[in-house]
Amino acid sequence: MIRPIQSTRVRDYRETDYAECEQLVSDAWQFEQHFQPAALYQLARHVYTYGSVVGSNFKQVVEQNGQVVGFLFGRNEKRPLEQGCLKLLRFNLWVLKRLFGLKGMTFKQKFAFLKKLNQHEIARHKIEKRGASEINLLVIHPSLQKQGFGQQLVQRFIKDCRSSRVPRIIVEANVVQASGFYKKLGFTLLAEFDSPLHQIASKDTPKAALYEYRL
Ligand SMILES: CC(C)(COP(=O)(O)OP(=O)(O)OC[C@H]1O[C@@H](n2cnc3c(N)ncnc32)[C@H](O)[C@@H]1OP(=O)(O)O)[C@@H](O)C(=O)NCCC(=O)NCCS
Repeated sequence: MIRPIQSTRVRDYRETDYAECEQLVSDAWQFEQHFQPAALYQLARHVYTYGSVVGSNFKQVVEQNGQVVGFLFGRNEKRPLEQGCLKLLRFNLWVLKRLFGLKGMTFKQKFAFLKKLNQHEIARHKIEKRGASEINLLVIHPSLQKQGFGQQLVQRFIKDCRSSRVPRIIVEANVVQASGFYKKLGFTLLAEFDSPLHQIASKDTPKAALYEYRL
């Protein structure tokens, strides 16, 4: 049998990659199972993915046979955000407008969702304020996991931060899902915290954790 040639490479993110990145996020965390109604699921996956795009200035993807199969979006604090902080602010306002315009949810349900976002942010702020260099989002397609691509992307981000004299990189992860991966790469635990958002996405493991990597 002739096996197809797999051509895999890591390259910079392009705007046309967005839909594939959003699909990878949705598949990795099964958003459609955790967020109801469907309109909230679509909004949640967009907030998670596009929010990371506008909040990142290091964006690389793993491409296999022309398809995006993994990516890392990170923020290097020593470089400005390409799209500017104003874009991030405008995006947050757009999210609020979309959330309160959603059909199939009562005002109380929408407010409760917003409260969860806020509780997550408050718990996180007690450990670490926003602004440090951070891995915002990292996903590798399940069929290509454990082949070194996640590590390769993190090492490229570390290299980028090191060349800008960034002192440390942080990452937020679910305690069960990716902790082992970050520890293996030399990240150490800063602290764990209870997160209602992690509880939605992963009912058995409501604990989130912040890790740091010293450069
Ligand atoms: C976490 C994730 C990005 C890891 O990517 P990956 O390409 O599978 O990881 P790598 O193959 O580069 O792994 C590097 C090392 O970490 C280990 N590792 C990978 N995932 C691990 C895990 N969940 N627990 C423990 N060790 C893990 C690998 O075995 C490898 O060790 P080795 O060098 O001794 O062989 C990937 O599993 C993923 O996309 N998961 C779903 C989304 C997610 O949780 N993202 C992180 C949130 S920020």
